[in-house]
Amino acid sequence: MTDFEKLGVFYLGRSYDLAKKKRGEDLVLYDSRDLVTHAVCVGMTGSGKTGLCLSLIEEAAIDGVPAILIDPKGDLCDLLLTFPGLSADEFRPWINEEDAARKGVSPDEYAKQQADLWRKGLAEWGQDGDRIRRLKDAAEFAIYTPGSSAGLPVSIVASFAAPPAAARDDEEALRERVASTATGLLTLLGISADPLKSREHILVSTILADAWSGGEDLTLEALIARIQTPGVKRIGVVDLEAFFPAKERFELAMSLNNLLAAPGFASWLEGDPLDVGRLLRTAAGKPRIAIFSIAHLSDAERMFFVTLLLNQTVAWMRTQSGTTSLRAILYMDEIAGYFPPVAAPPAKAPLLTLLKQGRAFGLGVVLATQNPVDLDYKGLSNTGTWLLGRLQTERDKARVLEGLEGAAAGAAKKFDRGRMGEVLAGLGNRVFLMNDVHEDEPVVFESRWAMSYLRGPLTRAQIKTLMDPMRGAASTEDRAPKASSAKREAKPGGGGSRPVLFELLRSDRPGAHPERHPDAEAADRLEQAGPFILYFGKLLRQKGVHLLLDAWRRLAPRYPDTSLVVVGFGSDRAWLESLAGERVIFTGAMDHAQLQQLVPCAELVVVPSVLPEAFGMVAAEAASCGLMTVVSDHSGLAEVAAGLGPASRTFDGSVDDLERAVGEILDLPAADREAIGLLGRERVCARWSWERIADSLISGTLPTRLR
Ligand SMILES: Nc1ncnc2c1ncn2[C@@H]1O[C@H](COP(=O)(O)OP(=O)(O)OP(=O)(O)O)[C@@H](O)[C@H]1O
Ligand SMILES: [Mg+2]
Repeated sequence: MTDFEKLGVFYLGRSYDLAKKKRGEDLVLYDSRDLVTHAVCVGMTGSGKTGLCLSLIEEAAIDGVPAILIDPKGDLCDLLLTFPGLSADEFRPWINEEDAARKGVSPDEYAKQQADLWRKGLAEWGQDGDRIRRLKDAAEFAIYTPGSSAGLPVSIVASFAAPPAAARDDEEALRERVASTATGLLTLLGISADPLKSREHILVSTILADAWSGGEDLTLEALIARIQTPGVKRIGVVDLEAFFPAKERFELAMSLNNLLAAPGFASWLEGDPLDVGRLLRTAAGKPRIAIFSIAHLSDAERMFFVTLLLNQTVAWMRTQSGTTSLRAILYMDEIAGYFPPVAAPPAKAPLLTLLKQGRAFGLGVVLATQNPVDLDYKGLSNTGTWLLGRLQTERDKARVLEGLEGAAAGAAKKFDRGRMGEVLAGLGNRVFLMNDVHEDEPVVFESRWAMSYLRGPLTRAQIKTLMDPMRGAASTEDRAPKASSAKREAKPGGGGSRPVLFELLRSDRPGAHPERHPDAEAADRLEQAGPFILYFGKLLRQKGVHLLLDAWRRLAPRYPDTSLVVVGFGSDRAWLESLAGERVIFTGAMDHAQLQQLVPCAELVVVPSVLPEAFGMVAAEAASCGLMTVVSDHSGLAEVAAGLGPASRTFDGSVDDLERAVGEILDLPAADREAIGLLGRERVCARWSWERIADSLISGTLPTRLR
């Protein structure tokens, strides 16, 4: 066994003689336990920081140490490009074809060159395909893409659940988590909030603190509801209404709701929860290198996500027992903007906590940046390992030396500033000065060849190709269940929100035609309902609502959590109410805005008309919200049903058949129901969007019923 394969040492490279400009023979082996006092890696662009840090992660993986990687640029994903055969064929799909063109060679030829380069490079450093295979087998490598379905999706829902008891008992820690979650969320809304002065921040923090200190989980939907009805009369010593009037709270709630309802936001609520323990290891206990690629996000979204992830890491850390060995690594590339000297972006507080307390729990933090001026050196004063690469300007060198001096003072070490300055000035690409407070002397070394193919940032399509095989059942054994309730709030049809609906219903003032408005108690009644089946339309015999009520009386005992909601007005309402069985809610009429919030929250919509309909508008509307429908098997309804394919079921007009059709849909697993509903939505958009109808009119191919 070569020396560098010993457990507990990370093979980083070999010593380097700056005077002779030559690589030496001594292996530079880093004691993994030293990393619990963290590392910071600074160097100009191209100096080899990412290559070095990825090599460090490779070493950790081989040793069975899991890691969370935050990747703002996309090049940490290169860790998945490991080719044990070191053959041109393996490299071919991943080469940068533009590089090949620039070099004037064919892509195949370039792939061969790259494979040769990697084989030779690795061999120079005593490594080969076998070591790559060991690396691949040692850990699961996964790319998560919050807010995008390119990689594995990740759900932020759990980030609003109460932190574990161990993290709650520490009051200061809880306060810090409340504040950074609130700031992160407001950042996402485009509100730059001062935690002490902004009333938005104070309100959201009060709600979070109130729930979490009692161990109560919040969801984003619950948060929206509480912004409107916080459940407290005073904020500090000031009356709530004076501090933040209801009308303005409603606006804040609406902007949060709009964010949730935006079509793209659904992808933030799907997939594995941000549960750090489960991210670090598979269900079978295999270490995982979990890469969070955030290159596709806006600045505000990145800050929001990184804040949540760091908060979750703090919470996880506090539930761990003490240790002196390295348990896990958190590595963030391109830290600029997250850990600045003066400002306090929301991610900074949890990062500081990790730096201060990670050691006791065996969590090593590795931070890299090309911009030494943008670092809070005071916050880094306890950092044990400094990996300094080539720097561009005198100012950069001066700042780094200052930081290093601070760290040396913290560790009560001598510091020869002049000598260090000389060394820094002499560094070249991939040549680093390592100052490890646990060692006697700083060393200058050249980083070893990385096993991963460092081809640069991956595109979304490439990430998708890498992660598609992991999306299947094989590696989802330990994937968490979907966050279904939160998802229900954010169906892609434009979304629907119960809290917003209740607010709309409660603020509805019946005017000249009270029968066209919801009942005064509509919101109260709906608040009692869990999942529900929906009818909306006129309350007239010809609409067949009585069939649905009959069918529901038989279905209700089988679905004890589900209700039937009947929306609308009409001369037969009293008669229909007399037919209603258990858990049937009549709400009165609703306007378009109210229906827009209500419909997407339903499990399915039923259109049981007895008489012919020209066009199944209600069914098409429901389908456009991504809902499955059951409709009568005649007239325009049958035509719409045919167009919706599996997203719509028909019944033959009998109560028996209606009972069967509704039951079949309710029996589908929620995820299937949702997927089929989305299919229907696509069909509606393709067939009946106004653009398509206009096109059809012009070409004369309009469906007969609409002509
Ligand atoms: N350990 C290594 N093994 C093989 N090649 C390397 C290694 N380190 C660096 N390189 C080569 O040098 C290039 C630049 O290095 P790297 O991306 O690590 O620089 P960087 O300091 O992270 O730059 P930036 O600040 O722009 O991200 C890499 O794309 C790769 O081609
Ligand atoms: Mg880099």
